[in-house]
Amino acid sequence: MNQLYESFLDIRPGQKIVDVGCGPGDFTRYLARLSDGNSKILGVDSNPKSVKAGIADTKKVHLSHVVSYKLGDAYKISIDDDYADLTCCRTLLMHLDDPLKAVREMARITKPGGHVVAVEQGKMGIYYDPNDKRFSRLSDQVWEAQLRGIRKLEGKEFRIGEKLPGIFQEAGLVDMKAEIQNNVYLASDPRQPLNDVKEELRFYLAFFKERMKKDRKYQVAGGLSNAKVSEYNKGYVSKTEGLLADDQKLRQDPTIVTDALYIVSGTKPRQT
Ligand SMILES: C[S@@+](CC[C@H](N)C(=O)[O-])C[C@H]1O[C@@H](n2cnc3c(N)ncnc32)[C@H](O)[C@@H]1O
Repeated sequence: MNQLYESFLDIRPGQKIVDVGCGPGDFTRYLARLSDGNSKILGVDSNPKSVKAGIADTKKVHLSHVVSYKLGDAYKISIDDDYADLTCCRTLLMHLDDPLKAVREMARITKPGGHVVAVEQGKMGIYYDPNDKRFSRLSDQVWEAQLRGIRKLEGKEFRIGEKLPGIFQEAGLVDMKAEIQNNVYLASDPRQPLNDVKEELRFYLAFFKERMKKDRKYQVAGGLSNAKVSEYNKGYVSKTEGLLADDQKLRQDPTIVTDALYIVSGTKPRQT
């Protein structure tokens, strides 16, 4: 993964880098680790709690001389025109109702000849259980309904990855590049220790339960019946709890789950 980002982001010594929608700064600090220590990296987020967490976590890992944070809105970043060599965001645009406005703003603060990079999830994602094709189909239907519902109720494109080159073009960026980082989850893969597999599954189950009520709202708005949503929720919880209760069953489970992150870069044209 490092190699992909290293070659893609082309971070050079002494650059000014901005990470918009930085959250608590995981990606911001990752950018710092890719740089040589002479760069100036700034994380911007609209959530004061995230900015506070970012500052504290950065201090803990002794990166405060390279990374700083400030509160700010992706639609109106309080940074001068042509400031950054590289302006990034990771999983920000999926949460915005006007991603083009944010990309235009990212381009505004970037130097002519500098780069704007977005890392966002795309539509490519699969849940497939060869032993339960009905549930696999239901899972596809639920996911598609959810994306439609989010679009309808909030005007957001939750899987915006494929749209990035078009948005970048509309924002006036040129020389677009794109890569995909695929993630695969397969419980039977022996390269992953059993405890890690179980911990990950427990995390997903807790997240699923926490989101169930809110996600139902989107799924129903996206055209799925309440009965189908209930069937899916019940199926997911009982299948996951069953796997967590039986190590052997878990290790033999052939269900495959994938998702894809798009990394797209554009260049701000130099004035002619
Ligand atoms: C899913 S998190 C991603 C955090 C981080 N980029 C990462 O990859 O770990 C999305 C972040 O975008 C921030 N955000 C949402 N709308 C924003 C806006 N209009 N301006 C700035 N940040 C915003 C949220 O506060 C949140 O921290």
